[in-house]
Amino acid sequence: MSWRRAAPKPARTAVRRLLAVALGASVLLLIALAVLIGRQLSVEALPPLAAQTTPTDPALIARGAYLARAGNCAACHTARGGQPYAGGRAIETPFGQVVAGNLTPDPEHGLGRWSADAFWRALHHGQSRDGRLLYPAFPYASFTQITREDSDALHAFLRSLPPVAQPNRPHALRFPYRSQAALAVWRALYFESGSFQPDPAQPADWNRGAYLVRGVAHCAACHAPRDALGGVAAGHEFDGGFMAGQGWYAPSLRSRFEAGLAHWAPQDIVDLLKTGVAHGSTGAAMGPMAEVVFHSTQHLSDADLHAMATHLKSLGRDAEPPPPPAPRADPAQLALGQRVYEAQCTDCHGAQGEGARQAYPPLAGNRALTLASPVNPVQAVLNGGFAPATAGNPRPYGMPPYRTLLSDAEIAAVITYARQSWGNQAAAVSPLDVQRLR
Ligand code: HEC
Ligand code: HEC
Ligand code: HEC
Repeated sequence: MSWRRAAPKPARTAVRRLLAVALGASVLLLIALAVLIGRQLSVEALPPLAAQTTPTDPALIARGAYLARAGNCAACHTARGGQPYAGGRAIETPFGQVVAGNLTPDPEHGLGRWSADAFWRALHHGQSRDGRLLYPAFPYASFTQITREDSDALHAFLRSLPPVAQPNRPHALRFPYRSQAALAVWRALYFESGSFQPDPAQPADWNRGAYLVRGVAHCAACHAPRDALGGVAAGHEFDGGFMAGQGWYAPSLRSRFEAGLAHWAPQDIVDLLKTGVAHGSTGAAMGPMAEVVFHSTQHLSDADLHAMATHLKSLGRDAEPPPPPAPRADPAQLALGQRVYEAQCTDCHGAQGEGARQAYPPLAGNRALTLASPVNPVQAVLNGGFAPATAGNPRPYGMPPYRTLLSDAEIAAVITYARQSWGNQAAAVSPLDVQRLR
């Protein structure tokens, strides 16, 4: 019998073994992390440019200017009311503010001492000239796909700008996110530099579109779902995501119940990106998307927009069940919503939510209204808005803001009414949903 007592209890042995394995695993993990962090942080500074050379090839500069439009560089790298590309705009992230710096060729504060190699390394690897790791609020997860030739053209264009001696503002990030070690861990988890690989099975315009959409035009910077650390799981770049700190949702470019484009005519996609409205498909760009159209996509060539449309159409999922109809809202809320709708909204959007062709979007069957998250329709009603004024649509129709006219309860009710009328079956919106975005 004694051998029985001498032997440790089997359950305990198992626990000990498990603990040993876990301990071993965490030690290994720590070592792996240390190696990764070390490798990320050991990047050297690149030598400064010895002589100030001004680029002279006008074709190269023009190509760089076009790519800068496609990449919307000025939108982030220009402060409100500031000199173009001189930096100073803070980008909101869940971890604090990251300030986009001065890209003009000022030697002290801008890129004046940056060689083409240093510039390429920033776009491709997300590292500054001095080796510092850059925050992914700078969309290098997309820009890593930019070719060396296009990087050199962008560099030449930026060097052709007048230098602006505007110092950079420091970032305002919370601990521990401001440490380079935290960034190194983040990059080890989520970032891999890569170059664009054309798919030989696809036609040239699909590949050109893929290069633009996934690379320089960085559509995934907003349209990707992000986890608690702000990372995007591979393969989910276009599944739709919340824009941290901005109260907007960039809908999925794959789902036909959000902003998927598989069933759109290519010309409607081109119209949306070029003019901000797609009359054939009842789309209208609002909020941050209106800015993308205004600053960036309206300036792209028709050939490039058609290429993007070809690629965007191919992102659609094959089979996808419709979301289940949401439970019916409280009758009192619906009654209030109907009263507000009839008083405020019918003139433009129609008694049956039918809209007015070429002017006011229909609300019946409108994907932007029936998204699972109500943030975008709440933004639309709170702040009103215009589609962007573009060459193709110079005087867009607008919607008045209801921020001061209607209470949170009234705005929630009118949106709920519209989300549950004329065949729409989306979930009710609460006054709290509205209050959060005020
Ligand atoms: C969504 C906003 C955004 C867009 C669009 C954007 N940038 Fe930036 N960029 C940033 C932010 C923020 C930083 C600062 C990152 C940091 O310091 O960690 C930055 C940093 C940089 C840097 C590194 C500067 C330095 O001093 O290390 C370069 C170079 C740069 N951007 C070039 C570009 C170019 C070229 C484009 C257009 C093709 C572009 N950026 C578009 C936000 C943006
Ligand atoms: C700065 C963030 C941001 C970027 C970058 C961005 N989007 Fe959007 N996009 C949004 C938001 C927010 C919406 C929702 C508002 C709306 O419906 O217009 C949206 C809406 C859309 C819609 C739906 C419009 C409609 O009326 O149905 C399409 C299509 C779209 N985006 C395509 C793109 C493409 C293609 C790119 C890249 C060229 C891109 N977006 C880049 C934020 C962004
Ligand atoms: C003066 C005309 C007008 C009135 C009144 C008006 N809207 Fe709009 N509405 C528009 C226009 C124009 C747009 C497209 C704006 C854009 O593209 O930014 C729009 C867009 C919207 C959208 C986003 C849909 C989409 O496809 O992008 C919603 C939701 C909406 N309106 C709801 C309402 C509600 C609810 C009311 C009443 C409280 C209302 N609107 C009153 C003209 C109007």
